[in-house]
Amino acid sequence: MLELLRSRYPAVLALLAQVLALAGVALLLFALARLGDWRPTLWQAALGQGVLAAAFGHWLGLRRWWLPLNLAFVPGLLALQSREWPAWWFLAAFVVLLLINWNSFRERVPLYLSGARTRQRLSERLAGLPADFRFVDLGCGLGGTLAQLARDYPAARLMGVETAPLVFLLAWLRCLPYRNCQVRYRSLWQEDLSVYDAVYCFLSPAPMVELWAKARREMRPGTLLVSNSFEIPGVAPGEIIELNDWRSSRLLLWHL
Ligand SMILES: C[S@@+](CC[C@H](N)C(=O)[O-])C[C@H]1O[C@@H](n2cnc3c(N)ncnc32)[C@H](O)[C@@H]1O
Repeated sequence: MLELLRSRYPAVLALLAQVLALAGVALLLFALARLGDWRPTLWQAALGQGVLAAAFGHWLGLRRWWLPLNLAFVPGLLALQSREWPAWWFLAAFVVLLLINWNSFRERVPLYLSGARTRQRLSERLAGLPADFRFVDLGCGLGGTLAQLARDYPAARLMGVETAPLVFLLAWLRCLPYRNCQVRYRSLWQEDLSVYDAVYCFLSPAPMVELWAKARREMRPGTLLVSNSFEIPGVAPGEIIELNDWRSSRLLLWHL
């Protein structure tokens, strides 16, 4: 069960760490009140809660980048509250974050974007394809890769699919000026890959095994699957393009 939560729903474990920390701090405050007359301030209690939540998160096996999130969550809430912003502001900020990070929870694929050098090298690599090649960006984010390819290859037919509502809207608007480019509100799992000459994705380690199974079922022989940085466990790429950027990104290519 813990393993399942760790690998598929780490946010639930982070919530559990916060609840355990809350219980720990409540017990500590109770004990302090019974044993002595030291009363911690609200800030001290919030910082204690943060430290405990980070420790519980680590103990539950959350990855290292959850540490600062767990540590800062309650102190951050307190800092925001002490500015006395209207309550609707928090709701609005939450809704905007939700509409952007729609796929973080279920698909475990957050939004981060292919860099300029990545887009450039991808574009150069596609130069060998027929002028009217068909390309899809699975989870196209803000549509930056599509827009670049639309400019570089006016005869190509480019598609992006995206299911984070606000991200989709921005990508759709961005690609509107390009006649050879479309963005659809559709899950990548619903997209038929058999029509494409090249399939591009920049997702996360989580969906790669399932994506490979889908590619093998649907993609035609001789077509190209390109993953920005994320490997397919146990399937060596036929080609690797090192990008030498700060993220140590690589384009991994599989020839179906
Ligand atoms: C890391 S971003 C990459 C964005 C873009 N491809 C790029 O390279 O700049 C991954 C995107 O995939 C989207 N995504 C995740 N799961 C998806 C799904 N099942 N269907 C469609 N889009 C999805 C996310 O919302 C996010 O915008």
